[in-house]
Amino acid sequence: MKRPSRAPTSSTKAWAGRLPVPAAPEAEAFTTSLPVDRVLYPHDVAGSRAHVRALVRAKLLSAREGARLERGLAAILHELERGRFRFLASDEDIHMAIERRLVERLGPLGGKLHTGRSRNDQVALDLRLWLRAECNAVDAALARLQRVLVALARQHRDAIVPGYTHLQRAQPILLAHHLLAYREMLARDRTRFRDCRQRGDELPLGAGALAGAGFPLDRKFLARELGFARVSQNSIDAVADRDTAVEFLAAAAIAAVHLSRLAEDLVLWATDEFGFLELPDAFATGSSMMPQKKNPDVAELVRGKTGRVTGALVALLTTLKGLPLAYNRDLQEDKPALFDAAATLRQCLEVFTAMLPGVRFRTERMAAAADGLLLATDLADQLVERGIPFRRAHALVGALVRRCAVTGTGLRDLDAPTLRGYSPHLTPALVRGLTPARSVARRRVLGGTAPREVQRQLARAEREDGR
Ligand code: ARG
Repeated sequence: MKRPSRAPTSSTKAWAGRLPVPAAPEAEAFTTSLPVDRVLYPHDVAGSRAHVRALVRAKLLSAREGARLERGLAAILHELERGRFRFLASDEDIHMAIERRLVERLGPLGGKLHTGRSRNDQVALDLRLWLRAECNAVDAALARLQRVLVALARQHRDAIVPGYTHLQRAQPILLAHHLLAYREMLARDRTRFRDCRQRGDELPLGAGALAGAGFPLDRKFLARELGFARVSQNSIDAVADRDTAVEFLAAAAIAAVHLSRLAEDLVLWATDEFGFLELPDAFATGSSMMPQKKNPDVAELVRGKTGRVTGALVALLTTLKGLPLAYNRDLQEDKPALFDAAATLRQCLEVFTAMLPGVRFRTERMAAAADGLLLATDLADQLVERGIPFRRAHALVGALVRRCAVTGTGLRDLDAPTLRGYSPHLTPALVRGLTPARSVARRRVLGGTAPREVQRQLARAEREDGR
């Protein structure tokens, strides 16, 4: 293997035959995607190795040539992994960089690699491989956060907290029930990434620039080699389409929004006004000026970074809209959006997975806040049990609550004559029986907040998510 004694800083472009002038530095700097797409290198090498095998099968390369090319690619992979690979300013993207290096190492034989292939099907392939790996990684990260939520729910399975609608106290619920709500959202997120992986499980290689390779490449063989379930059925679609990436970003945006809502609950609950939880010191930030501050910056940033992830989805959709078939260089803009969104989502998942086990829930404060007028529904429900139509019961209890609100009395403090004034069915025994614990216990419907049902849901979650 011949190696140049000193690596050049620039190399001739692959298209120098057609365009013999060197690229303007401004054009080169503007069009390069190398800073972004270099992370594709393991996939690019894997795709090229499979392509070499397909070329050998098609008798376009001898077995010996194939073996030398594969060894060359393996050596380049090694250089890249060790950080020993020297990129050149003239390397337009990771695909050209690797091919350039292959020619450096192997001479003219390296120039045979790109037979029957275009960077258009090559980059489409690399992206599919990246998406497949990333879907798996995000799925695993989601599962880890699910397990943390479920473990917290189990630790606090008896704690009662006010449930809110319109950010007004609504009804008592179990804290575990609230936490498991997020677990459900993440469960759906996981199915979205699974769907994305399955729908994208299709080999684009062999599509060539757009019309299909001009050599008899066995695409089913390529699909098997690279672990794809299917082969794309239209070469134009294969190089022009990015909807697997859009789907990934949509799933990522939804997951990020879920994390953002959890973040908002944490920020709110950590305030003195709520006082429902204390964040672990190691995940909080102080103020440079106000000595008393303990700020929920981690949760705020999870909430804030959601903007980047949803922005990436909109960016890619906007890039695709109105693009004529087939490949257009605009498509290169898929990767900054995609890679940033994936990394951001994964960071958010990881930091919450690390932070949540350290959250201290102030269950006494929660319990105190879950008592009082938010038991009004239970009173109405009990009147219903005594034969009063719900609408009537609602109106009666509503009037009673209004009185309590005006006079500053609790429902349980109302005396017999007052109660009787509203309905003969209303008795001190009835109102005194109202408690948050009884309120949650009533809600035994499937998916309700009764302890027994939440227990069942906890067990199901543990079964489904693994411990
Ligand atoms: N860097 C390009 C991309 O990411 C690779 C494909 C380039 N193809 C082309 N015909 N210029 O989309």
